[in-house]
Amino acid sequence: MSEVRLEGAQRLRGRVRVPGDKSGSHRALMLGALASGSSTVTGLSGGEDVAATARIVSQLGAEVLLENERVIVRGPLKGLRASDDALDCGNSGTSMRLFAGIVAGIEGRHQLVGDASLSRRPMDRVARPLRLMGAEVEGHGDALTPPLRISGAAPLHAIDYDVPVVSAQVKSAILFAGLAADGPTTVREATRTRSTTEDMLLEAGVLLRVTNVREGREVTIEPGRPEARTWRVPGDPSQAAFFAVLGVVHRDAQINIAPIDRTPERVGFVDVLRRMGANLAWGDDGSLRAETSPLLATEIWAAEIPSVDEVPALTVAAAAAHGVTAFRNMGELRVKESDRFAGSLALARALGCATWSEGDDFYVRGLEDSAAFADLHVEVELDHRMVMAAAVAALAGHGGTILGATSVSSSYPTFFEHLASLQ
Ligand code: S3P
Repeated sequence: MSEVRLEGAQRLRGRVRVPGDKSGSHRALMLGALASGSSTVTGLSGGEDVAATARIVSQLGAEVLLENERVIVRGPLKGLRASDDALDCGNSGTSMRLFAGIVAGIEGRHQLVGDASLSRRPMDRVARPLRLMGAEVEGHGDALTPPLRISGAAPLHAIDYDVPVVSAQVKSAILFAGLAADGPTTVREATRTRSTTEDMLLEAGVLLRVTNVREGREVTIEPGRPEARTWRVPGDPSQAAFFAVLGVVHRDAQINIAPIDRTPERVGFVDVLRRMGANLAWGDDGSLRAETSPLLATEIWAAEIPSVDEVPALTVAAAAAHGVTAFRNMGELRVKESDRFAGSLALARALGCATWSEGDDFYVRGLEDSAAFADLHVEVELDHRMVMAAAVAALAGHGGTILGATSVSSSYPTFFEHLASLQ
């Protein structure tokens, strides 16, 4: 297993440009492939997850060309078609769940496979609505873990569906399938998750009605085809979260993060950190500046950071805070690239914090200062965000050894270079 050793940094200064938003990157390629004609994408994430999506759209009949900093996607005039070969999503849950929705509406048999981590993740959450729409979906065991076999149907039946989990991927799978349905499809979520799919479908000219209902959202989509267009993918806020936490918990830091996506469901981590006392400021251009700050413990609800991608980073903030931080309703962490519920607790413990859990809640007693962090030794299995959280803690504290660090390439291949550039 790959091993990286990091020493604690004396001083951190500088500016980082995080990769293009992973969510936006997947969808730009997918919408480009579903459209007829040529779409251009700038700012695409260079991570392996998005590369898997690019390979899959090619297998389904789109053309993907790399031109300097731009990617051109040409969707076939007659629409996408089934591939004879398995569609390999690698480590990427977003690829598997969103493609499940797309291929459900393409006649023929499709097989979606993934790496060891993805092969443990539940796909029943997308299979259920897609079966209601008329696709056949098979996987392994009750949770329908991959490989996923899907027989697509065109058209699919339009449905009206309440998503029982908090998941942007499930919502998006249904919306993509809705493009190939025989009437308007409605999907409802009780907690608003990232709006990337809705926003981009609207920009691509698809007929969509979006209504906020209490803390949730209702989206109705008309069948149709997205238009080819130019996509400019903004910086990824979930990657910015690592640098924000690093800047705040390190004893001598000033870090500027080049502009990122600021849609409300993506930047909850900024509010959480500010509530803890973090000196974090937005620039007019959407950049974020993080400076050394003493932190106080807080109570963090999953709904504040839907999809809970920022919890590994916030665990490091909790470890550097004064008092006990409560992480509430965090059950979804268990079915991410790794069990991040256990992984976040293990990371805080490895730093020297007392931790405990009760049901879907967990608690971290902070050490008041990252100078009190222990030299870390962690092993991460196929989970980019756990690697980045551990690296931030190591740099802010007394160094650390991370086994399995190459997993960072799923979303951020240049992460360690960017960390080094701040020293
Ligand atoms: C994503 C949704 C989230 C998130 C993932 C990306 C997306 O998962 O964890 O990194 O692009 O739709 P959920 O489906 O659990 O919200």
